[in-house]
Amino acid sequence: MEPKIIEIIFDTIDSTQSYAKTSLETFSKDSFWRVISADCQTKGLGQKSRHWSSPPNNIYVSFVFPFPNSQLIKLLYVTQVTTITVCQILEENLNLKPEIKWKNDVMINDKKICGVLAEAETMGDFTHVIDGIGINVNTSKEECEKLDQPTTSLSIETGGIVDKKMIYESLKRKLYENINKLINEGFEGFLEYIKGHAAFVGRDVRIISDKDGSVNEGKFMGLDDYGFMMLMQENKKIVSLCEGKMNAL
Ligand code: BTN
Repeated sequence: MEPKIIEIIFDTIDSTQSYAKTSLETFSKDSFWRVISADCQTKGLGQKSRHWSSPPNNIYVSFVFPFPNSQLIKLLYVTQVTTITVCQILEENLNLKPEIKWKNDVMINDKKICGVLAEAETMGDFTHVIDGIGINVNTSKEECEKLDQPTTSLSIETGGIVDKKMIYESLKRKLYENINKLINEGFEGFLEYIKGHAAFVGRDVRIISDKDGSVNEGKFMGLDDYGFMMLMQENKKIVSLCEGKMNAL
């Protein structure tokens, strides 16, 4: 499927996500997808308004696309479909073994290589998704070590120069295909892949609720059929959690 996406390309910008959000009223006048990309950002945004380090030569993109209000329940899965898409591209093109740390992070060898920030705004009959993706393509080992969590990049993991344009073009094509599959067929077709690529399965983890900060600890048993996290607590009871930030202990 050849995607019909209008591209807006910057060398440097404060944040592709902020740009997308301030342009939303204009974008929402038609049903085209947009992708805003930049080589580097001066005020990159991460989850929970955290800073997203954005040195040159990496991928910083925000996709904007309409999501029918009749299908809003599936909006829950946009983040997961996005991390799945990134994993598929890294596997198929670079032969890497990426995993998904529920539910925004793509990891390689327990280190973060990509973060996703999916936001949404409803206007009339459609909700517009602003799906921000940051992929560390060429961040050096020294730069990665300065960050506040274990981080890696594609050039570190492959030991060579990575074709950033190829990753970007694959991302455009595959995300368009996968989001349309989510809208038309639901999340079921992605379940096997995401279950097989969940990070920290069988390990002791801590999950901190984004809503109230409550802490759950136990053994991570993988994902259930809703794509939620299954945690075996100390009393051997398995609970499903639909939100929270997971970290290995
Ligand atoms: C996270 O905290 O893991 C999410 C990071 C999302 C970063 C991307 S880079 C492109 C887009 N523009 C931003 O300012 N943030 C997102």
